[in-house]
Amino acid sequence: MAMTTTSPLDAAVLKKDFPLLVGVESHGTPIVYLDSAATSQKPRVVLDAMETYYETINANVHRGVYEIAEEATNQMEAAREKVRRFINAPLTAEVVFTKNATESLNLVVGSWGRANLREGDIVVLTHMEHHANIVPWQMLAAEKGLELRWIPLDADGHLDLTDLDALLDRAKVLAFTAMSNVLGTLTPVRRLTDAAHAVGAVAVVDACQYVPHVPTDVAAMGADFVAFSGHKMCGPTGVGVLWGRAELLDAMPPFLGGGEMIRDVRLEGFTCNDLPWKFEAGTPPIAETIGLGAAIDYLQGLGMDRVRAHEIDMAGYALRVLNERFGDRISIYGPTVPEERGAVLAFSFDDLHPHDISQVLDQHGVCVRAGHHCAKPLMRVLGVGATARASLYLYNDERDVDALADALTAAADFFEL
Ligand SMILES: Cc1ncc(COP(=O)(O)O)c(C=O)c1O
Repeated sequence: MAMTTTSPLDAAVLKKDFPLLVGVESHGTPIVYLDSAATSQKPRVVLDAMETYYETINANVHRGVYEIAEEATNQMEAAREKVRRFINAPLTAEVVFTKNATESLNLVVGSWGRANLREGDIVVLTHMEHHANIVPWQMLAAEKGLELRWIPLDADGHLDLTDLDALLDRAKVLAFTAMSNVLGTLTPVRRLTDAAHAVGAVAVVDACQYVPHVPTDVAAMGADFVAFSGHKMCGPTGVGVLWGRAELLDAMPPFLGGGEMIRDVRLEGFTCNDLPWKFEAGTPPIAETIGLGAAIDYLQGLGMDRVRAHEIDMAGYALRVLNERFGDRISIYGPTVPEERGAVLAFSFDDLHPHDISQVLDQHGVCVRAGHHCAKPLMRVLGVGATARASLYLYNDERDVDALADALTAAADFFEL
């Protein structure tokens, strides 16, 4: 049950829920984990839920009629219902468990896209997409002869929607991120899904960075498909979600074939299972779905409105501290207004290579990501090959940002800048 209180989160207290954040040191100092956009840490309740599954009800689901198999099935399906409530999906059958957001997006492209798009059809993407929402479309474009169009960015790291109508003209798909994993930019989801539907296009939302950080309502988003990963929202690796409108999912061919996804198989052919199992071929990630359910309980116990409020505070604090301390020496990409972004900060610092920055920060226990963040087209738009990226979550506080700033000073000293 979501809490209604608006009291701020106390990250220092929450840290104690995450064994790695209190029990592990790196280079002799406690870890300052600033890479949650890559994957979040996992609270004890999630680890316990998975361990309890393995220790007490480990059995395959949807098959056995013995007690522990039925309990495993019940817990996995209960997790599906938790996901449904968490994202306000109309139907539990619309919640498909996948391996991750990448697989969810490949499912949309490989099943819906392959069945519904033909030569000359137009797919509109944006310059800030993760490779997971680019490459599958490029693969299908090469196979089918599709045209890909791109929504550009403005100087502040928002989508530049000046030519949206022209870009969407005759489009069959608009696929876009709800929050950039590099710029932190929140995109105007409802405006975009409405614009897509106005031209009869299907709206696909990559919500991989959004669902973990912002209260999510897929009905209010107005999307047709929404993809996200469990491991970025306090859940385990190995489980992701595709939510899709039942009407579309029903009409789509299966993505992978095998057990679970069939109703009947004869030598002449097969018939498909009902939703959502039609898209869940093979043994699913059972422990992981149960772990994801526990992660959702944890997040709802905190209240997603409080998580978002905390991250606005953290983004504001980090922007202020880093800009005040380093001035022109640091370039933080993306919107300058905390309310318009998530607490993910990609930056360039002096002339230091991001990998060098990351290595020196590591000596101080500060974990940040360095690289292209699976967004190479965006790197080219920004005119850089790579950036460092600090990304914060509910368990980070001002002290973590201060530690980052101190470690950056140490990096500058180390390289004698
Ligand atoms: C915006 C966005 N989309 C998709 C993905 C792919 O997620 P995964 O690697 O869990 O499939 C990521 C991961 O970083 C992401 O940030």
